[in-house]
Amino acid sequence: MNIKWEKRMSSLELLKDVYYVGYVDWEVRNFHGYSTHKGSSYNAYIVKSGDKTILIDTVKRQYFKYYLENIQSVCDLKDIDYLIMNHIEPDHSGSFPLVLEYLPKAEIIASIKGVEILEQHYHEEVDKSIFEKIRAVKNGDTLDVGNGKIFTFVPIPMIHWPDSMVSFMSDEHGKNVLFSNDAFGQHFAASKHWDDENNFSEIMWEAEKYYANILLHLSSLIAKTLPVVGALPIEVICPSHGVCWRKHIPEIIEAYTKWSTGEIEENSAVIIYDSMWESTTKIAKELYHEIWRRGIPVKRFNLTSSDYSDAITEAMKAKAIIIGSPTLNRGLFPSVAEYLCYQKGLKPMNKVGLAFGSYGWSRGAVRAIISEMESTGIAMLDDSIEIQFVPKPSDLNFKEIVDKLVKKMEV
Ligand code: FEO
Repeated sequence: MNIKWEKRMSSLELLKDVYYVGYVDWEVRNFHGYSTHKGSSYNAYIVKSGDKTILIDTVKRQYFKYYLENIQSVCDLKDIDYLIMNHIEPDHSGSFPLVLEYLPKAEIIASIKGVEILEQHYHEEVDKSIFEKIRAVKNGDTLDVGNGKIFTFVPIPMIHWPDSMVSFMSDEHGKNVLFSNDAFGQHFAASKHWDDENNFSEIMWEAEKYYANILLHLSSLIAKTLPVVGALPIEVICPSHGVCWRKHIPEIIEAYTKWSTGEIEENSAVIIYDSMWESTTKIAKELYHEIWRRGIPVKRFNLTSSDYSDAITEAMKAKAIIIGSPTLNRGLFPSVAEYLCYQKGLKPMNKVGLAFGSYGWSRGAVRAIISEMESTGIAMLDDSIEIQFVPKPSDLNFKEIVDKLVKKMEV
């Protein structure tokens, strides 16, 4: 591949002998359906150890030339000894077929499943003999790269794909680094690469949103894997998206423990709905005020102006998920149907639910909400709210139903 561009120094030495060679994406606003208001990054790293050079992960294909340039500012590509592929989703492997031709001697390392999925992705571009030579590692396999640095490979299946693994580098002369790939990541673009160089609340919100939108449905596996990863003597975490963790490692591990076990921080509620002619909005607003008057934290998302990625993030944290839709063609309003489909896949845990909506001459939306929510184990209130056409002031008295909801939230 013949690429010409002006060479510039664009890598960054994060730690002694550990370099950032990824791409910070300030433009992406949608990551396979997930809203990324703050951009993202596709992190890749180089470790130098004596005479060995190790490249960890690649980047999304359209940013290959920046990745290559970054690597070239750290080392000569022909000197790279190992390419570790922690995960095969194309945001991390898209440049794999392109970078191969610059790596004459590099041994490729991936999990057993990673080798299989690499071939399933790139069989048209990469010769079969390459896949046959990849070192397939299993849990606990190590790679001693000399100079006191040893990599230990730990597959973390389904965090995020079956192939996912983390690479833990112990370093006698420096920091022990966990190259965690998707785990502990955030879709967050930043010119400063460390957690303590960024606003803590902002990065934790993005880590939370990332968990809710990408990992929530894998929580039971994550809860089992976290103690294994947490037992490693980690001093630094370098994920494949967002900033690296050095100061707030206990906080992010604790947050993952909380999210993966479905622990509720406070007895809060979230109202997620859409409306056709404002009747469902009127119900949503009155429900909001009835809950607010009791001092219960509550948030309201109209899906016309809010996206489902933000809404599910709040739903993950709330105890009560309250969903509203007008009836359209005897069923759900499309945006609510879309949200419910998304929520169903992500499976928020330990929730109670309430359905509401307006209708004209035939019902259907509330019944559909209840059915969708119950199918993922949300404990629905026996009562629901259905109001024909435009609510009268007397229709908008939700004291009794909110009493029941609050009681259910406290169980
Ligand atoms: Fe960031 Fe599962 O890829």
